[in-house]
Amino acid sequence: MNIERIETIDSTNEELIRRGREGAMPQVLIAKEQTAGRGRLGRTWVSKKGDGLYMSILVRPDIPLEKAPLLSLIMGLAAHDAVKEATGIDTRLKWPNDLVIDGKKVAGILASSEIEGSRLKFVVIGIGINMFQELFPEEISATATSLRLNGAKFNREDLENSIVKSFNRYYDIFIREESFRAFTEEYNSLTVNVGRRVRVIEPGNEYEADSMGVNEDGELLVRLDNGEIKTIRSGEVSVRGVYGYV
Ligand code: BTN
Repeated sequence: MNIERIETIDSTNEELIRRGREGAMPQVLIAKEQTAGRGRLGRTWVSKKGDGLYMSILVRPDIPLEKAPLLSLIMGLAAHDAVKEATGIDTRLKWPNDLVIDGKKVAGILASSEIEGSRLKFVVIGIGINMFQELFPEEISATATSLRLNGAKFNREDLENSIVKSFNRYYDIFIREESFRAFTEEYNSLTVNVGRRVRVIEPGNEYEADSMGVNEDGELLVRLDNGEIKTIRSGEVSVRGVYGYV
């Protein structure tokens, strides 16, 4: 897969969505800076030059529409392995799309799918990793961290290449099996969401439950206080710890 590195762009996700609409082939785009970086749930992703890794991957998988969100989880696994390989840091995953170190967010993932009729046309999966920040804005300083703040010494390009390599490895298995089954055990062993009391925040609905981990479809299972088990699909949902971010 071709990797293109550029200095600045509004958002690597938006750029690959534009290219995808014009029929572009699968590719990787990495920018040093984003002027309109996008986060989940309509938030912005502050993307100053040199601070972070800003990367998006465009793929055209021939899979059912409802499986597209699994690509965010695949990226989470790939980024976990790549960060470990390049820096030695063993991050945890926070379903559905964050990487954390000691309970603080070090990376976030945002995927967008485009459909044509009832078919998936393409998916863009973007990842932002906090690499070199030493200070965060007040609003997120309690919940954000960077690789540098955790003492990592690493080569930026090695980390980028490693993410692409790991993503491709997981992606090939996922496409072949058309399922998340092969990764469920690994995902659950890495996620901080297992066995915790969580607050589930859905549009217009918020409740507490005990998190049990993900199932073979990459959905989060939670046990409500009345004993009922609920399946949560990623999408417009966020899951937090009862006492904080994790
Ligand atoms: C989140 O809210 O946690 C997701 C953040 C995703 C940020 C990355 S940076 C590269 C890509 N381009 C964007 O505009 N967003 C993603």
